[in-house]
Order: sequence, then C-alpha cells, then structure tokens
Amino acid sequence: MSAKQANGHHSNGLGHAGQDTDVDIYTYEVVEKIAQYLLSKTCIRPKIGIICGSGIGSLADSLEDRQSFSYGSIPDFPVSTCAMPVRVMKLAGVTHLVVTNAAGGLGDGYKVGDIMIIKDHINFLGLAGVNPLRGPNDDRFGVRFPALNKAYDERLRADAKRIAKSLSLDKHVHEGVYACVGGPSYETIGELRMMKMMGANAVGMSTVHEVILAKHCNMTVFAFSLITNECIVDYSEKGEACHEDVMQNSKDRSQVLLQFVSHVVGHMASTMAPEEPSTTMTTTTTTQT
Ligand code: HPA
Repeated sequence: MSAKQANGHHSNGLGHAGQDTDVDIYTYEVVEKIAQYLLSKTCIRPKIGIICGSGIGSLADSLEDRQSFSYGSIPDFPVSTCAMPVRVMKLAGVTHLVVTNAAGGLGDGYKVGDIMIIKDHINFLGLAGVNPLRGPNDDRFGVRFPALNKAYDERLRADAKRIAKSLSLDKHVHEGVYACVGGPSYETIGELRMMKMMGANAVGMSTVHEVILAKHCNMTVFAFSLITNECIVDYSEKGEACHEDVMQNSKDRSQVLLQFVSHVVGHMASTMAPEEPSTTMTTTTTTQT
C-alpha cells in the first residue's frame, strides 16, 4: 500500500528548522480515524512501513499488488511537513519502519552511490529544541521521555550487513551516524567540518522526526542513507553541492537500492511471526523548499 502526496510537493517530514512541531494537532482520535479510513479501503493489513526519501520514490512504484492513496484523498491527512504518517502507520498495525533518505557523505571512503546503514543520529534540530514530541504527550502513543540510544535496531543492522555481503554490495555499504540539519540550504565547509569532527558520517535534512515518532510508539526501526554527494570539506575545492545532482544520483542508484531494500524487507518479513503477514505501507517524502 503506498500513500503519495497529491500536490507533487513532497515534504522531508521535517519542514525546516522551526516548522513542523504541529504533530500534536493530529490527536490520537484524528490519527485513528485516518488509519481506520485507510484500513476500510483495503484488505491489506500492513506490518512494515517504508518511508521513501528524496528521489527514492521509485521504491514505492516497484511494489507488487499495490494500492495507492494520494494524500489529498485521505480525510484530514496533512499535505506537507509532518512526520505524523508514522503514527497513522502505527495505528494501522505497522510494527516495523524502514526509512530511506538521500544524504551527503562525510565518512572516509564514502562515495556517491554508496549506502550507509544508520546506526545512530545527531539531531541538530532536536538539540535546538525542534522535536516532534514537544508539547502535550498522549500516553496512548508513548511515554513522555522516550530513550533513543537503541533507536536503530541492532539485529536488523547486522542482518542488513550480511545481506549486503551476499549481494556483493559490501564495498558500497557502510554503517554510520546520520546528522540531521534543517536545510534547505546546504552546509558551509565550517559546519561540515564540525559535524565530521563530532562523529557524523553523513548529513541530510530528513528522517529523524519519523524515527523519533516511531520509537515513541515502540516501532522497530531500520534506516539507511543513499550517499548522493560527497560533502565538500576543503576550501580549495572548486565544486558546490547541487540539488539536481542529489536527485539524479539517487535516481541512478534506484535499482541497487531497490535490490537492497527488497532483500532487507523480505528478511524482516521472514523473521516475523507467521500470523503476521508482511505487507508494506509506504510513504514518499522529499525535501520541501
Ligand atoms: N547536505 C544536506 N542534505 C543532503 C545532502 C547534503 O550534502 N545531500 C543530500 N541531502
């Protein structure tokens, strides 16, 4: 099942710093109504949710036996800048969330087209007070102060690395720390050097809001970045970060990505209890400018 935004103006689920702390206007009752609406329109009972990042929307198109809902057709569904679809997934029965994004590579040996399995994140927005859980907490979703030190499921990461090896992708698959910034401008050299020094291996403008909401409501999370550009951390470098290149590079690698994700999702499904059929629910996001 895939839910795509109707207006072609996709969101990274974050908006930019200072926006999108409006998750709490979607009360438990509203989220439940949306989930029930979707379930009433399909006999699919999804267990795995996939959030497709910038230029990675072809993942959703590749699903078999797909049922699509444009965001505009779903009553009360936000049309932009909200990570709240994660909660809809939760109340529709999804237990496992896969998040993909496009990111700039900071890690040594990270090349365009490589994949970084996310083992942790540095949320610059969160550190600055922009967190989707700010405001009143509804305990039906989760606890007031959720832990994030085990946000990215360890077993799934290990399994994904084994899968990468079996697909002979291991030279192109890394594991690292994702730094989340507000965008939409790309980072300065000074900012990138700072992030690198702090232990970040890739930088992007998405994902962490969704991961925070998913962990808040006790979902299992697996996330990875497609490295669409190598960050420029040298003042003598001539080039500059370019959004069109980012989009093109993610499209160019879509087949490899698809292969990797379908194996990971297939494996995830096989580890679920037999009474839990493993249908997926996807939503597509890109950075909103
Ligand atoms: N910086 C921030 N976001 C990004 C980048 C980057 O270099 N590449 C893709 N998304």
